[in-house]
Amino acid sequence: MLLRNCWYVAGWSHHFGEDGLVSRTILGDPVVLYRKGDGGIVALEDRCCHRLAPLSRGRKEGDDLRCMYHGLRFAPSGKCIEIPQQDIIPPTAVVRSYPAVEQDCWVWLWMGEPALADPKLVPRALNHDHPDWFMQTGELAYDANYELINDNLLDLSHLSYVHQSTLGRNSMSWGESRPRTTRFERGLRVERWVVDHPRPAYLGLPAGARSDMWASYDYVVPGVFLLATQSYAPGAAADCGMQAPTAEPDWISSTSQAVTPISERQTVYYYSSCLSRKFATEEYSRQQMAVIERAFAEDKAMIEAQQQVIARTPDARMLRLSSDGALNQFRRLMAGLIDAEGRLGVAQPTAAE
Ligand code: FES
Ligand SMILES: [Fe+2]
Repeated sequence: MLLRNCWYVAGWSHHFGEDGLVSRTILGDPVVLYRKGDGGIVALEDRCCHRLAPLSRGRKEGDDLRCMYHGLRFAPSGKCIEIPQQDIIPPTAVVRSYPAVEQDCWVWLWMGEPALADPKLVPRALNHDHPDWFMQTGELAYDANYELINDNLLDLSHLSYVHQSTLGRNSMSWGESRPRTTRFERGLRVERWVVDHPRPAYLGLPAGARSDMWASYDYVVPGVFLLATQSYAPGAAADCGMQAPTAEPDWISSTSQAVTPISERQTVYYYSSCLSRKFATEEYSRQQMAVIERAFAEDKAMIEAQQQVIARTPDARMLRLSSDGALNQFRRLMAGLIDAEGRLGVAQPTAAE
């Protein structure tokens, strides 16, 4: 099941140029996106109401979109405003329009009831397009249900195993750390010290350097991961009594990631890597992103293989461990919201991808 009354990332701002039409499928809905003359984003159902041709094969005319099958012209509201073959435009000549917000270099769409679309619910990405930070961006398509990706991001003990040779750095520090989880209205905060962790070899640091790293993230509905990490000399975690640090770190980084379901079985994942210019160079920022991309290929291989096992044996039960606390809480939070929508009668997608 998929949550509809929610903002979903439809792409990076740079995916949407001044000209051109971009087609996406989100929650099973085909959507065409383009920019108006003032730069604002229009998102319409990518299916002409006449003979169901994709509007993404159409043509932008000013701020409007013309279907290039038989020429119906649509305003950004989705209302048809011209039918070349007749003078009367029936009130049913309309395609769905999706509320869109562009914030922090991401374009977000509200996939549910438009009257409920509240821009204040768009999560704030960390340090995107900020002059004090280097930023790298990427995206990855998954043949997997979005919840498996949420689960992965809500249990970072996997860094010591899946990412043994990349982010885990051949250390058990992530795998053995005990996070603290706090619930808030539309998400969870997960905080931990990763103690005595090897520092990366690619950031101009001496070989064998180690740190205590404070890693804190918010995980927000429907699957937005906002992680900030701060590094200190070994011993810092004990000095803080394993509580949140207050001293100035010697290294900081952040990443924001968004999980967008295409359908029940396909997902797109958008991610950034940001390094503070106070400590890093642009070259370090590129090196860090190269490692992250290798790591995310490791996640993809594991999660898609897991999805195949689940598809072959759908009745197999999962064993619950204490390390599953955050992901189980988040699954319950999502299930509660989806259940509440069901009681309100919000339609689920019908078009299988
Ligand atoms: S299908 Fe779009 S105008 Fe006919
Ligand atoms: Fe991972």
